[in-house]
Amino acid sequence: MTIEFKAAVFRAPNEPMTIETVSIPSTPPPGDVLVRMRASGLCHSDLHVIVGEWEVPTPMILGHEGAGVVEAIGEGVTGVSVGDHVILTWTPPCRRCRYCVSGRPVLCDKVAEHSANHLSFDGKTRISTLDGEEVYSFAGAGTFGEYAMVPESGAVPVRQDAPFEQASLVGCAVTTGVGAAINTANVRPDETVLVLGCGGVGLNAIQGARLVGARRIIAVDIADARLEQARHFGATEVVNTSTEDLSERVAQLTDGRGVEVAIEAIGLPKTIEAAYASLARGGRAVVAGQVADGLTITIDPFVMSDSELKLIGSNYGSSRPAIDFPQLVDHYMDDRIDLDSLVTRVISLDEINDGYEEMKQGVGIRSVIKY
Ligand SMILES: NC(=O)c1ccc[n+]([C@@H]2O[C@H](COP(=O)([O-])OP(=O)(O)OC[C@H]3O[C@@H](n4cnc5c(N)ncnc54)[C@H](O)[C@@H]3O)[C@@H](O)[C@H]2O)c1
Ligand SMILES: [Zn+2]
Ligand SMILES: [Zn+2]
Repeated sequence: MTIEFKAAVFRAPNEPMTIETVSIPSTPPPGDVLVRMRASGLCHSDLHVIVGEWEVPTPMILGHEGAGVVEAIGEGVTGVSVGDHVILTWTPPCRRCRYCVSGRPVLCDKVAEHSANHLSFDGKTRISTLDGEEVYSFAGAGTFGEYAMVPESGAVPVRQDAPFEQASLVGCAVTTGVGAAINTANVRPDETVLVLGCGGVGLNAIQGARLVGARRIIAVDIADARLEQARHFGATEVVNTSTEDLSERVAQLTDGRGVEVAIEAIGLPKTIEAAYASLARGGRAVVAGQVADGLTITIDPFVMSDSELKLIGSNYGSSRPAIDFPQLVDHYMDDRIDLDSLVTRVISLDEINDGYEEMKQGVGIRSVIKY
Protein backbone atom coordinates (compact mmCIF):
# COMPACT_ATOMS: atom_id res chain seq x y z
CA MET A 1 0.00 0.00 0.00
CA THR A 2 1.27 3.45 -0.83
CA ILE A 3 0.26 7.03 -0.13
CA GLU A 4 0.31 9.56 -2.97
CA PHE A 5 1.11 13.10 -1.99
CA LYS A 6 2.28 16.49 -3.28
CA ALA A 7 5.91 17.53 -3.09
CA ALA A 8 8.18 20.16 -4.60
CA VAL A 9 10.65 18.23 -6.74
CA PHE A 10 14.09 19.63 -7.61
CA ARG A 11 15.36 18.35 -10.95
CA ALA A 12 18.06 20.81 -12.05
CA PRO A 13 19.78 23.94 -10.71
CA ASN A 14 18.34 27.33 -11.58
CA GLU A 15 15.05 25.83 -12.69
CA PRO A 16 11.89 26.14 -10.62
CA MET A 17 11.02 23.13 -8.47
CA THR A 18 7.94 21.38 -9.84
CA ILE A 19 4.96 20.46 -7.70
CA GLU A 20 4.43 16.76 -8.43
CA THR A 21 2.48 13.84 -7.06
CA VAL A 22 4.86 11.25 -5.63
CA SER A 23 4.41 8.06 -3.67
CA ILE A 24 5.62 6.58 -0.37
CA PRO A 25 4.87 3.25 1.36
CA SER A 26 2.03 3.69 3.88
CA THR A 27 3.68 1.18 6.25
CA PRO A 28 7.19 2.27 7.24
CA PRO A 29 9.95 -0.35 7.09
CA PRO A 30 11.40 -1.54 10.44
CA GLY A 31 12.96 1.34 12.40
CA ASP A 32 11.36 4.08 10.28
CA VAL A 33 8.68 6.64 11.04
CA LEU A 34 6.19 8.15 8.57
CA VAL A 35 5.58 11.82 9.32
CA ARG A 36 2.76 13.94 7.95
CA MET A 37 4.44 17.31 7.53
CA ARG A 38 2.64 20.33 8.95
CA ALA A 39 5.24 23.06 8.35
CA SER A 40 8.65 23.56 6.79
CA GLY A 41 10.96 26.56 6.81
CA LEU A 42 12.96 27.67 3.78
CA CYS A 43 16.64 27.54 4.76
CA HIS A 44 19.53 28.98 2.79
CA SER A 45 21.20 25.56 2.61
CA ASP A 46 18.52 24.44 0.13
CA LEU A 47 19.26 27.61 -1.85
CA HIS A 48 22.88 26.44 -2.25
CA VAL A 49 21.43 23.44 -4.11
CA ILE A 50 18.85 25.47 -6.06
CA VAL A 51 21.48 27.83 -7.49
CA GLY A 52 23.94 25.01 -8.24
CA GLU A 53 26.53 25.75 -5.52
CA TRP A 54 26.12 22.25 -4.07
CA GLU A 55 25.70 19.25 -6.34
CA VAL A 56 23.11 16.63 -5.37
CA PRO A 57 21.59 13.53 -6.98
CA THR A 58 18.22 14.19 -8.64
CA PRO A 59 15.28 14.17 -8.60
CA MET A 60 15.20 15.31 -5.00
CA ILE A 61 12.73 16.70 -2.47
CA LEU A 62 14.62 19.51 -0.77
CA GLY A 63 13.87 20.94 2.70
CA HIS A 64 15.30 19.90 6.06
CA GLU A 65 13.66 22.29 8.55
CA GLY A 66 10.29 20.73 9.31
CA ALA A 67 7.73 19.71 11.89
CA GLY A 68 4.75 17.38 11.66
CA VAL A 69 2.76 14.57 13.21
CA VAL A 70 3.72 10.88 13.30
CA GLU A 71 1.31 9.01 11.05
CA ALA A 72 2.73 5.48 11.26
CA ILE A 73 5.69 3.67 12.82
CA GLY A 74 7.69 0.69 11.60
CA GLU A 75 8.43 -2.50 13.48
CA GLY A 76 10.74 -2.03 16.46
CA VAL A 77 10.10 1.69 16.87
CA THR A 78 9.68 2.42 20.57
CA GLY A 79 10.72 6.05 21.05
CA VAL A 80 7.89 7.76 19.13
CA SER A 81 4.20 6.98 18.82
CA VAL A 82 1.51 7.69 16.27
CA GLY A 83 0.12 11.18 16.94
CA ASP A 84 3.34 12.58 18.44
CA HIS A 85 4.27 16.08 17.31
CA VAL A 86 7.81 15.87 16.02
CA ILE A 87 10.55 18.08 14.65
CA LEU A 88 12.76 16.39 12.07
CA THR A 89 16.52 16.36 12.48
CA TRP A 90 18.79 16.08 9.45
CA THR A 91 21.38 14.31 11.59
CA PRO A 92 19.38 11.30 12.82
CA PRO A 93 21.84 9.59 15.17
CA CYS A 94 22.51 5.84 15.02
CA ARG A 95 22.98 6.04 18.83
CA ARG A 96 25.76 3.42 18.70
CA CYS A 97 28.82 4.85 16.94
CA ARG A 98 31.73 6.50 18.72
CA TYR A 99 30.36 9.99 18.05
CA CYS A 100 26.84 9.22 19.20
CA VAL A 101 28.02 7.49 22.35
CA SER A 102 30.30 10.42 23.19
CA GLY A 103 27.47 12.95 22.83
CA ARG A 104 28.25 14.38 19.39
CA PRO A 105 25.40 12.98 17.27
CA VAL A 106 25.79 15.53 14.47
CA LEU A 107 29.05 13.74 13.60
CA CYS A 108 27.42 10.27 13.58
CA ASP A 109 28.97 7.67 11.25
CA LYS A 110 25.57 6.71 9.80
CA VAL A 111 24.74 10.35 9.11
CA ALA A 112 28.03 10.82 7.28
CA GLU A 113 27.45 7.64 5.28
CA HIS A 114 23.75 7.96 4.44
CA SER A 115 21.87 11.13 5.52
CA ALA A 116 24.62 13.35 4.14
CA ASN A 117 24.11 11.52 0.84
CA HIS A 118 20.35 12.09 1.03
CA LEU A 119 19.51 8.47 1.80
CA SER A 120 17.86 6.50 4.59
CA PHE A 121 19.86 4.39 7.07
CA ASP A 122 19.68 1.34 4.78
CA GLY A 123 21.28 3.36 1.97
CA LYS A 124 18.02 3.50 0.01
CA THR A 125 15.42 6.12 -0.90
CA ARG A 126 11.81 5.93 0.30
CA ILE A 127 9.89 8.03 -2.20
CA SER A 128 9.26 7.51 -5.91
CA THR A 129 7.52 9.34 -8.74
CA LEU A 130 4.35 7.83 -10.17
CA ASP A 131 6.54 6.54 -13.05
CA GLY A 132 8.64 4.62 -10.55
CA GLU A 133 11.69 6.92 -10.63
CA GLU A 134 13.41 7.01 -7.21
CA VAL A 135 13.38 10.39 -5.45
CA TYR A 136 16.07 11.47 -2.99
CA SER A 137 15.20 13.34 0.20
CA PHE A 138 17.56 16.22 1.09
CA ALA A 139 19.75 15.19 4.06
CA GLY A 140 17.45 12.19 4.48
CA ALA A 141 14.66 14.56 5.57
CA GLY A 142 13.09 16.17 2.47
CA THR A 143 10.52 18.39 4.18
CA PHE A 144 9.17 20.09 1.01
CA GLY A 145 6.46 17.47 0.66
CA GLU A 146 3.32 16.50 2.53
CA TYR A 147 5.02 13.37 3.96
CA ALA A 148 8.51 12.33 4.97
CA MET A 149 9.94 8.98 6.08
CA VAL A 150 12.84 9.12 8.52
CA PRO A 151 14.64 6.80 10.94
CA GLU A 152 13.09 6.82 14.42
CA SER A 153 15.90 9.00 15.76
CA GLY A 154 15.20 11.54 13.01
CA ALA A 155 11.81 12.49 14.47
CA VAL A 156 12.14 14.20 17.84
CA PRO A 157 8.90 14.47 19.87
CA VAL A 158 8.11 17.89 21.33
CA ARG A 159 5.25 19.35 23.37
CA GLN A 160 1.94 19.53 21.50
CA ASP A 161 1.00 23.11 22.37
CA ALA A 162 3.76 24.64 20.23
CA PRO A 163 2.64 25.95 16.80
CA PHE A 164 4.09 23.94 13.91
CA GLU A 165 5.33 26.96 11.91
CA GLN A 166 7.56 28.19 14.73
CA ALA A 167 8.55 24.65 15.77
CA SER A 168 9.69 23.83 12.23
CA LEU A 169 12.44 26.46 12.50
CA VAL A 170 13.91 24.58 15.44
CA GLY A 171 14.70 21.87 12.88
CA CYS A 172 17.50 24.01 11.45
CA ALA A 173 17.96 27.80 11.85
CA VAL A 174 17.24 28.02 15.58
CA THR A 175 19.26 24.98 16.61
CA THR A 176 22.10 25.95 14.27
CA GLY A 177 22.27 29.60 15.39
CA VAL A 178 21.55 29.29 19.10
CA GLY A 179 23.76 26.18 19.22
CA ALA A 180 26.67 27.92 17.46
CA ALA A 181 26.67 30.49 20.27
CA ILE A 182 25.91 28.23 23.22
CA ASN A 183 27.34 24.83 22.32
CA THR A 184 30.13 25.51 19.82
CA ALA A 185 31.40 28.90 21.05
CA ASN A 186 30.31 28.37 24.66
CA VAL A 187 29.76 32.13 25.00
CA ARG A 188 30.31 33.49 28.53
CA PRO A 189 28.50 36.48 30.06
CA ASP A 190 31.58 38.73 30.10
CA GLU A 191 32.30 38.28 26.39
CA THR A 192 31.74 40.39 23.29
CA VAL A 193 30.28 38.40 20.41
CA LEU A 194 30.38 39.43 16.76
CA VAL A 195 27.79 37.80 14.49
CA LEU A 196 28.27 38.11 10.73
CA GLY A 197 25.06 37.63 8.73
CA CYS A 198 21.64 38.32 10.21
CA GLY A 199 19.46 35.78 8.41
CA GLY A 200 17.70 32.81 9.97
CA VAL A 201 20.94 31.39 11.38
CA GLY A 202 22.64 34.66 12.40
CA LEU A 203 19.65 36.13 14.23
CA ASN A 204 19.46 32.92 16.24
CA ALA A 205 23.17 33.12 17.05
CA ILE A 206 22.39 36.61 18.35
CA GLN A 207 19.51 35.44 20.51
CA GLY A 208 21.58 32.47 21.68
CA ALA A 209 24.32 34.86 22.83
CA ARG A 210 21.67 36.98 24.56
CA LEU A 211 20.16 33.90 26.21
CA VAL A 212 23.45 33.17 27.98
CA GLY A 213 23.93 36.82 28.88
CA ALA A 214 26.72 37.98 26.55
CA ARG A 215 27.72 41.49 27.55
CA ARG A 216 27.87 42.90 24.05
CA ILE A 217 26.65 41.53 20.72
CA ILE A 218 27.78 43.24 17.51
CA ALA A 219 25.72 42.33 14.43
CA VAL A 220 27.04 42.62 10.88
CA ASP A 221 25.08 42.58 7.63
CA ILE A 222 24.80 44.46 4.34
CA ALA A 223 21.07 45.18 4.72
CA ASP A 224 19.71 47.79 7.15
CA ALA A 225 16.42 45.90 7.54
CA ARG A 226 18.36 42.84 8.78
CA LEU A 227 20.32 44.98 11.21
CA GLU A 228 17.09 46.37 12.62
CA GLN A 229 15.96 42.79 13.21
CA ALA A 230 19.33 42.08 14.79
CA ARG A 231 18.71 44.79 17.39
CA HIS A 232 15.34 43.25 18.15
CA PHE A 233 16.99 39.83 18.71
CA GLY A 234 19.60 41.25 21.07
CA ALA A 235 22.37 43.03 19.16
CA THR A 236 23.80 45.92 21.17
CA GLU A 237 25.65 47.43 18.18
CA VAL A 238 25.29 46.98 14.43
CA VAL A 239 27.67 47.38 11.49
CA ASN A 240 26.54 47.70 7.89
CA THR A 241 29.54 46.53 5.87
CA SER A 242 28.12 47.88 2.61
CA THR A 243 29.02 51.35 3.93
CA GLU A 244 31.32 50.76 6.92
CA ASP A 245 34.73 49.12 7.31
CA LEU A 246 34.41 46.13 9.65
CA SER A 247 37.94 46.10 11.06
CA GLU A 248 37.77 49.83 11.83
CA ARG A 249 34.39 49.50 13.54
CA VAL A 250 35.46 46.46 15.58
CA ALA A 251 38.61 48.28 16.68
CA GLN A 252 36.55 51.33 17.63
CA LEU A 253 33.98 49.30 19.57
CA THR A 254 36.53 47.19 21.47
CA ASP A 255 39.30 49.72 22.21
CA GLY A 256 41.43 48.05 19.56
CA ARG A 257 41.26 44.65 21.23
CA GLY A 258 38.88 42.70 19.01
CA VAL A 259 36.11 40.33 20.06
CA GLU A 260 36.28 37.16 22.13
CA VAL A 261 33.87 35.31 19.83
CA ALA A 262 33.01 35.81 16.13
CA ILE A 263 30.30 33.70 14.50
CA GLU A 264 30.06 33.60 10.71
CA ALA A 265 26.53 32.85 9.50
CA ILE A 266 26.74 33.78 5.82
CA GLY A 267 28.91 31.20 4.03
CA LEU A 268 31.46 33.30 2.14
CA PRO A 269 35.25 32.91 2.35
CA LYS A 270 35.81 36.66 2.78
CA THR A 271 33.38 36.92 5.71
CA ILE A 272 34.89 33.84 7.38
CA GLU A 273 38.29 35.52 7.05
CA ALA A 274 36.77 38.74 8.42
CA ALA A 275 35.34 36.89 11.43
CA TYR A 276 38.76 35.44 12.19
CA ALA A 277 40.48 38.80 11.66
CA SER A 278 38.12 40.42 14.21
CA LEU A 279 39.30 38.26 17.11
CA ALA A 280 41.03 39.49 20.24
CA ARG A 281 44.05 37.45 21.37
CA GLY A 282 42.78 34.07 22.58
CA GLY A 283 39.51 34.52 20.67
CA ARG A 284 37.50 31.93 18.79
CA ALA A 285 35.86 32.16 15.39
CA VAL A 286 32.96 29.82 14.69
CA VAL A 287 32.11 28.92 11.11
CA ALA A 288 28.38 28.19 10.84
CA GLY A 289 27.87 29.54 7.31
CA GLN A 290 28.50 27.02 4.56
CA VAL A 291 30.34 27.94 1.39
CA ALA A 292 29.80 26.80 -2.19
CA ASP A 293 31.57 23.54 -3.12
CA GLY A 294 35.33 23.89 -3.54
CA LEU A 295 35.93 27.34 -2.02
CA THR A 296 38.78 27.86 0.46
CA ILE A 297 40.00 30.49 2.92
CA THR A 298 43.42 31.88 3.79
CA ILE A 299 44.62 32.53 7.34
CA ASP A 300 47.99 33.43 8.84
CA PRO A 301 49.14 30.43 10.93
CA PHE A 302 51.81 32.47 12.72
CA VAL A 303 49.20 34.85 14.13
CA MET A 304 47.05 31.83 14.94
CA SER A 305 49.71 30.24 17.17
CA ASP A 306 51.09 33.49 18.52
CA SER A 307 47.67 34.78 19.59
CA GLU A 308 46.17 31.38 20.39
CA LEU A 309 43.28 31.91 18.02
CA LYS A 310 40.72 29.19 17.44
CA LEU A 311 38.82 28.54 14.22
CA ILE A 312 35.97 26.13 14.94
CA GLY A 313 33.47 24.51 12.59
CA SER A 314 29.89 24.27 13.77
CA ASN A 315 27.57 21.68 12.28
CA TYR A 316 23.90 22.02 13.35
CA GLY A 317 25.04 24.13 16.30
CA SER A 318 26.99 21.17 17.74
CA SER A 319 23.57 20.13 18.97
CA ARG A 320 22.09 17.01 20.47
CA PRO A 321 18.66 17.29 18.83
CA ALA A 322 16.92 14.89 21.23
CA ILE A 323 17.88 17.21 24.10
CA ASP A 324 18.03 20.56 22.34
CA PHE A 325 14.77 20.51 20.34
CA PRO A 326 12.42 20.14 23.33
CA GLN A 327 14.54 22.63 25.28
CA LEU A 328 14.43 25.26 22.52
CA VAL A 329 10.68 24.81 22.17
CA ASP A 330 10.38 25.40 25.94
CA HIS A 331 12.57 28.51 25.70
CA TYR A 332 10.19 29.79 23.00
CA MET A 333 6.99 28.90 24.84
CA ASP A 334 8.36 30.61 27.97
CA ASP A 335 9.36 33.77 25.99
CA ARG A 336 13.12 33.36 26.45
CA ILE A 337 13.69 33.21 22.69
CA ASP A 338 11.58 34.74 19.92
CA LEU A 339 10.53 32.50 17.04
CA ASP A 340 7.45 34.50 16.04
CA SER A 341 9.45 37.35 14.52
CA LEU A 342 11.49 34.87 12.45
CA VAL A 343 8.39 33.77 10.53
CA THR A 344 7.91 36.71 8.17
CA ARG A 345 5.72 34.89 5.64
CA VAL A 346 3.55 31.78 5.68
CA ILE A 347 3.18 30.24 2.21
CA SER A 348 1.62 27.22 0.55
CA LEU A 349 3.79 24.54 -1.06
CA ASP A 350 2.86 25.96 -4.49
CA GLU A 351 4.57 29.25 -3.59
CA ILE A 352 7.93 27.68 -2.78
CA ASN A 353 9.82 29.07 -5.79
CA ASP A 354 8.58 32.55 -4.89
CA GLY A 355 9.81 32.02 -1.34
CA TYR A 356 13.33 31.28 -2.61
CA GLU A 357 13.24 34.27 -4.97
CA GLU A 358 12.53 36.41 -1.91
CA MET A 359 15.44 34.84 -0.02
CA LYS A 360 17.76 35.68 -2.94
CA GLN A 361 16.58 39.29 -2.72
CA GLY A 362 16.91 39.38 1.07
CA VAL A 363 13.18 39.96 1.62
CA GLY A 364 11.86 38.83 5.03
CA ILE A 365 13.63 36.42 7.38
CA ARG A 366 12.00 33.01 7.05
CA SER A 367 9.16 31.95 4.78
CA VAL A 368 7.46 28.89 6.23
CA ILE A 369 5.33 26.46 4.24
CA LYS A 370 2.12 25.50 5.99
CA TYR A 371 0.77 22.13 4.79
N1 LIG B 1 26.42 24.91 9.84
C1 LIG B 1 25.20 24.46 9.73
O1 LIG B 1 24.85 23.44 10.28
C2 LIG B 1 24.20 25.25 8.92
C3 LIG B 1 22.83 25.05 9.06
C4 LIG B 1 21.95 25.87 8.36
C5 LIG B 1 22.42 26.83 7.50
N2 LIG B 1 23.76 26.96 7.35
C6 LIG B 1 24.34 27.99 6.46
O2 LIG B 1 24.30 29.24 7.13
C7 LIG B 1 24.29 30.27 6.15
C8 LIG B 1 23.19 31.26 6.46
O3 LIG B 1 21.91 30.64 6.33
P1 LIG B 1 20.58 31.48 6.52
O4 LIG B 1 19.46 30.53 6.28
O5 LIG B 1 20.66 32.27 7.77
O6 LIG B 1 20.70 32.49 5.27
P2 LIG B 1 19.93 33.84 4.97
O7 LIG B 1 19.95 33.99 3.50
O8 LIG B 1 18.63 33.86 5.70
O9 LIG B 1 20.85 34.97 5.65
C9 LIG B 1 22.10 35.36 5.16
C10 LIG B 1 22.37 36.78 5.66
O10 LIG B 1 23.69 37.17 5.28
C11 LIG B 1 23.67 38.50 4.80
N3 LIG B 1 24.82 38.68 3.90
C12 LIG B 1 24.99 38.20 2.64
N4 LIG B 1 26.18 38.57 2.15
C13 LIG B 1 26.78 39.29 3.12
C14 LIG B 1 28.05 39.96 3.22
N5 LIG B 1 28.93 39.93 2.21
N6 LIG B 1 28.35 40.60 4.37
C15 LIG B 1 27.47 40.65 5.40
N7 LIG B 1 26.26 40.03 5.37
C16 LIG B 1 25.92 39.37 4.24
C17 LIG B 1 22.33 38.64 4.12
O11 LIG B 1 21.93 39.99 3.99
C18 LIG B 1 21.43 37.84 5.07
O12 LIG B 1 20.91 38.66 6.09
C19 LIG B 1 24.14 29.57 4.79
O13 LIG B 1 25.43 29.41 4.21
C20 LIG B 1 23.60 28.21 5.18
O14 LIG B 1 23.89 27.21 4.23
C21 LIG B 1 24.64 26.22 8.05
ZN1 LIG C 1 19.18 24.64 7.22
ZN1 LIG D 1 26.10 7.40 15.36
